[in-house]
Amino acid sequence: ILYTILCLLLGYLLGSIPFALIIGKIFYHTDIRNHGSGNLGGTNAGRVLGKKAGIAVIVCDVLKVVLAVGIASLISPAAATWTGFMCCIGHCYPIFAHFHGGKAVSTVFGFLLGTSIFVFKDTFYFLVPFLMFFIVLYLFKFVSLASICGIVCGTLFITATLWSMNVQNILVIIACWLMAILVIYRHLKNIRAIQNGEERKITWM
Ligand code: G3P
Repeated sequence: ILYTILCLLLGYLLGSIPFALIIGKIFYHTDIRNHGSGNLGGTNAGRVLGKKAGIAVIVCDVLKVVLAVGIASLISPAAATWTGFMCCIGHCYPIFAHFHGGKAVSTVFGFLLGTSIFVFKDTFYFLVPFLMFFIVLYLFKFVSLASICGIVCGTLFITATLWSMNVQNILVIIACWLMAILVIYRHLKNIRAIQNGEERKITWM
């Protein structure tokens, strides 16, 4: 239990590393919280600093969760799942950035990737949010809508996969759905903006 608690703490601290802020400040001398949507995430980094920066932020945000899940998977699937969850919480409410972080899209994707590498091996459910994201983005040009659809589909798929593998660990499934709810909650402003026709569209696709 001590190791599990340490992993949860590690998850929160790793998740709290605000790569969008760090990369923006170090390489572009820009605090992206004062630009675009103000969100500390890959999308806003791409919007404000350019595609390269956006990709770098997304990769770092995904990898921090993969790392945390990988370490916690040495304990148990449940520890890995809840550590991933704590990473997402850290990303949204980072101790290192006054608790104003991102919207958990890259981190939930990192969770799905990490668990399919280290925990529920030989499963490929992380491909589902990836594909869904690009289909919705291509059709509607809203990153936020594509993110929500991708993560919800990924969560549905992981639930179905675990069920079919007889990993009917209800706590793991609850953690997955809490992460999906967190993503939707963090996008409420975007949902309102879409309804009002004010949401930013991407121009490069
Ligand atoms: O990654 C977050 C994305 O879904 C929306 O970000 O900056 O457009 O609010 P943003």
